[in-house]
Amino acid sequence: MLDICVLGDDVLRTECKDIKVFDSALKMLADAMLETLKEADGVGLAGPQVGVPEKIFVVWIPEEDPLVFINPEIVETSIETCPYEEGCLSVPGMYHNVVRPKRVKVQAFDADGKPFTLDADGLLARVIQHENDHLHGKLYIDYLTDAEREKLLRLYEKKNKARKNRKRRV
Ligand code: NI
Repeated sequence: MLDICVLGDDVLRTECKDIKVFDSALKMLADAMLETLKEADGVGLAGPQVGVPEKIFVVWIPEEDPLVFINPEIVETSIETCPYEEGCLSVPGMYHNVVRPKRVKVQAFDADGKPFTLDADGLLARVIQHENDHLHGKLYIDYLTDAEREKLLRLYEKKNKARKNRKRRV
């Protein structure tokens, strides 16, 4: 299990670096990220969320095969958009509607360095866009209006405080 960085950690706002070496350490990182994702009960996890500012993210949608994306690039997005209530393991407990393109075409490398292209729709397209943003220091809350974001952050702080207090008592 890797530690997941949360809002306020600078690594989440970093432009990530390309991965140049495909070795066993990279495979171990990808595996550890998938394990962490599963444990955290999420569907996507990006490098900076585990303190690694490099272009890697993993996606694991229930009932489907886990996917590893290295140096991904979204090369096409549909004109058609749709809303979806997004959350993020780095902003635990919070959710908000975000409108994004419905479909994307992404090019990336797998953990063995093999290139692939994927046409994604539905939840997969959503997660790919959310995770890809992480590689460019962007969070889903950046898409909200100032008023929406302030409200969400106030609630987040409140919840967070409660969580910290709870921990102190134990
Ligand atoms: Ni996220």
